[in-house]
Amino acid sequence: MEKRVKGCSILRGDITPPGDKSISHRALILNSIAKGRARIENLAAGDDVYSTMSCLRTLGVEITDSGGTYSVSGLGTEGFVEPADVLNAGNSGTTMRLLSGLLAAQPFLSIITGDESLRTRPMDRLIQPLRSMGAEIWGRGSDSLAPLAIRGGKLNGIHYTLPVASAQLKSAILIAALFANGNTTVEEPVQSRDHTELLLKAMGVKLKHEGTRIKLIPSASLSPIDIRVPGDISAAACWLIAGAIHPNARIKVLNTGINPTRTGIIDVLKQMGAKIEVERVRRESGELVADLSVESSDLVATQIGGSLIPRLIDELPLIALAGSFARGTTTIMDAQELRIKESDRIGATVRELLKLGVDIEELPDGMVIRGRGGLAGGERAKQLTGAGCTSHHDHRLAMTLGIAALVSQGETVIQDAEAVAVSYPNFWQDMEKLT
Ligand code: S3P
Repeated sequence: MEKRVKGCSILRGDITPPGDKSISHRALILNSIAKGRARIENLAAGDDVYSTMSCLRTLGVEITDSGGTYSVSGLGTEGFVEPADVLNAGNSGTTMRLLSGLLAAQPFLSIITGDESLRTRPMDRLIQPLRSMGAEIWGRGSDSLAPLAIRGGKLNGIHYTLPVASAQLKSAILIAALFANGNTTVEEPVQSRDHTELLLKAMGVKLKHEGTRIKLIPSASLSPIDIRVPGDISAAACWLIAGAIHPNARIKVLNTGINPTRTGIIDVLKQMGAKIEVERVRRESGELVADLSVESSDLVATQIGGSLIPRLIDELPLIALAGSFARGTTTIMDAQELRIKESDRIGATVRELLKLGVDIEELPDGMVIRGRGGLAGGERAKQLTGAGCTSHHDHRLAMTLGIAALVSQGETVIQDAEAVAVSYPNFWQDMEKLT
């Protein structure tokens, strides 16, 4: 699908982002392993979470939807059934990696594949630790790529240091560890999102955190847990950036998760001088939630790297766009993981933003963006020029280009704009509400 977006003179209104994608995957998977029924409200509406749901159903889990509230009938640790067909994770790395942790412990054969993009993403980092736990698991390309074939069985706990800060990898090992003999410890180089740990603790699993080391003691069973999923800060980020860089904007993003392992985007916007407020902070289903408001801001450039990266990894294309509307040069470093997301997000972001006139350069592990001045610099809406561009079938890039189009002169045509459906199916409708 091709989407045409014109630069707009005013951005005003309230948005409620979709349910958090990361929490939704975990709510479905962990409640499937629990014994008994759980209700999930505000589940992420997107293809990725649908992929997880459909794989779990193939494994025998009953998941029903009544008016947007999902009910999961957990099978316990021993109730999963051998899938009669290949499991399809679609575009979703989280589905493939987390479910592999589960499948590695099941007494049957599973084959899990994904779309063209997912079949190019690294799976050796997943295969290695699962094999160390005793799993029989193979992949294409000398055990580095999907499809994966898994003959599950008895696992042993391991002590494992992750080679990269990856919540998907950490969660896959923790899920496998639930079924293992003996304890497991996982050490992260830098802390990544901790939704799996929070949910497991709430479900009664003995899990201890010592700095960046997590120790899990397997329990006989998990208690099902009812969850209201907070809004996704990675979706909210689109409007936070739009509000900050547009010259005439005032936007409120309601009901957004502000788990500290995810709020790098708020820290960076504040660092850049954005007028952003975090209001009505509360706790829902163990996660912090708030309403966020933002308005047109006079931004200054910033430097991003190190332990901040995992806290805003999915927001980096948007931050690159914000850098273009700041005074000075913004540098993003230590983000080599971006090259192996749904697209090569460094290459694709640079290529597409260049078409709109952003002064941006590729680094092996990041980007350099030379800003053209903040609000004080004058008529910012005229700084970028609409152009023809493509999402590279990457939802985060499609949304970044949509926001860039709002602050560009003339019309931007975005090819493969339907990619937003992976995490935010109503993205284009929400955009219309604000313009
Ligand atoms: C996710 C973890 C991150 C993130 C992805 C979702 C998760 O990936 O980029 O969008 O839900 O665990 P990595 O774990 O590969 O860094």
